[in-house]
Amino acid sequence: MAAPRFVERLTEQIAYEFAAQQQYIANAVYFDSQTLPRLAAFFYAQAVEERNHAMMMVRYLLDADAPVSIPGVAAPATEFADIVAPVALALEQERRVSEQIAALVGVARDEVDYLSEQFVQWFLKEQVEEVSTMSSLLAVVERSTDAPMFVEDYVAREHPESGPTDPTAPPAAGGAL
Ligand SMILES: [Fe+2]
Ligand SMILES: [Fe+2]
Repeated sequence: MAAPRFVERLTEQIAYEFAAQQQYIANAVYFDSQTLPRLAAFFYAQAVEERNHAMMMVRYLLDADAPVSIPGVAAPATEFADIVAPVALALEQERRVSEQIAALVGVARDEVDYLSEQFVQWFLKEQVEEVSTMSSLLAVVERSTDAPMFVEDYVAREHPESGPTDPTAPPAAGGAL
């Protein structure tokens, strides 16, 4: 049985992951409306990843026989000054999530809840990757404000739509999309 304090904090994290999904959909729709289809596809795919993160956490609570509640989430930002703004927001979000995941590991450790600590380890590795991806994308988009096709080419080259799936990822409730 997972520690109640961990369950409480993980439930909050489910809301943050769903909120990240909504923000990435909003980013994708913005890029779609600017006719930047590669950036749009990238953020549509990121949104699905965030949804999967939330559903992995739901699956863990179900498996641990813990109470599961599905939260409502705050509305995402939908208006952006330029093509840099949504990516800057994404990097800020990923950095915040990294801190939240690290705090979750801390709670599991404080509660001597080894199973929960092991579950949340995967997300630490995932955050290293996501912060790095967003920070590279921000660097490229900042160089592309006068030539957005430059960042479109970069995304097409570096982030092909069907990347490899991670076999070490925790199972998601209902299956990962
Ligand atoms: Fe996430
Ligand atoms: Fe993320």
